Amino acid sequence: MNTQTKPKILVARAIFPEALAKLEESFVVRSNQTDQVFTPEELQKELASVVGALVAGSERIDASALANAKNLKVVANISVGYNNFDVPAMTAAGVMATNTPDVLTDTTADFGFALLMATARRITESEHWVRNGHWDKWSIVNNPLGMDLHHSTIGIIGMGRIGHGIAKRALGFDMNVIYHNRSRLSESDEKACGAKYVSKEELLKTADHVVLVLPYTAENHHTIGAKEIALMKPTATLINIARGGIVDDAALAQALKENKIFAAGLDVFEGEPSVHSELLQLSNVVLAPHIASATEKTRRAMVDLAIDNLRTALAGKKPPSLINTELFKA
Ligand code: DGY
Repeated sequence: MNTQTKPKILVARAIFPEALAKLEESFVVRSNQTDQVFTPEELQKELASVVGALVAGSERIDASALANAKNLKVVANISVGYNNFDVPAMTAAGVMATNTPDVLTDTTADFGFALLMATARRITESEHWVRNGHWDKWSIVNNPLGMDLHHSTIGIIGMGRIGHGIAKRALGFDMNVIYHNRSRLSESDEKACGAKYVSKEELLKTADHVVLVLPYTAENHHTIGAKEIALMKPTATLINIARGGIVDDAALAQALKENKIFAAGLDVFEGEPSVHSELLQLSNVVLAPHIASATEKTRRAMVDLAIDNLRTALAGKKPPSLINTELFKA
């Protein structure tokens, strides 16, 4: 295709070079392989000259970002969560919003389980123990002693695709699975994933391990704060693979400091990439840099799906994972 006739798109974060090269065959691409996150002002300027954009959670797409984006038709998120999108503002501007569901479900559930195991069995703390030369202090009673997963109760808050994946893995560990969700699953679905519906309060009081997998919405802000942590067992663990802001990180840090719960495993943080300074000081928390979907295969699948969404939208068809479906006129 002649450069003159190629539409211009923005790829706001670094992507795999082969995927970028393929895009360059059909589009004039403003890429950002240095991966320096755009400021809101820069993003607004970049969006002003393109018909489509590939972004990630670091790019907030709202009325201000769209202010000068007169030709923009689609913004494809390379992420299943889309709390970086102001969907009503995108819809009002006639901009299709897409995300990347399904392709990351198992990888993310695997990681949720890995983080749970690392937290309950104090794996990172034990590694530091070895690295710091404490092995000579090994004893029956003086190792970092953890909590069991097998035959314990796991409480899943948010029973979507990834919640189902966590439940499936928990059954393999002979765990008792309870869940809380905005809407209860059908009887057959509950049976299939071996999970019992309980109130949030009952879940917090009875679970040995609480795993958060719900989407971030204004309503879900601080789903877990000091009041909720106070309901948990002192032996319980809390795992957040959902979104920063679902947990009140300051309240959690305080509770961990006072050993109100056993430990926490966090892949997401309020205001990430910043991490609450007190969390960084504590040994009873396992910290990860938002990597639940980070395997080579899955990140490639996410990029490919986002590109498919972008291409399909720009071809005037309904993208496979369109969020604001009301925009698409068949
Ligand atoms: C998602 O896709 O929402 C994950 O959090 C990304 O890593």
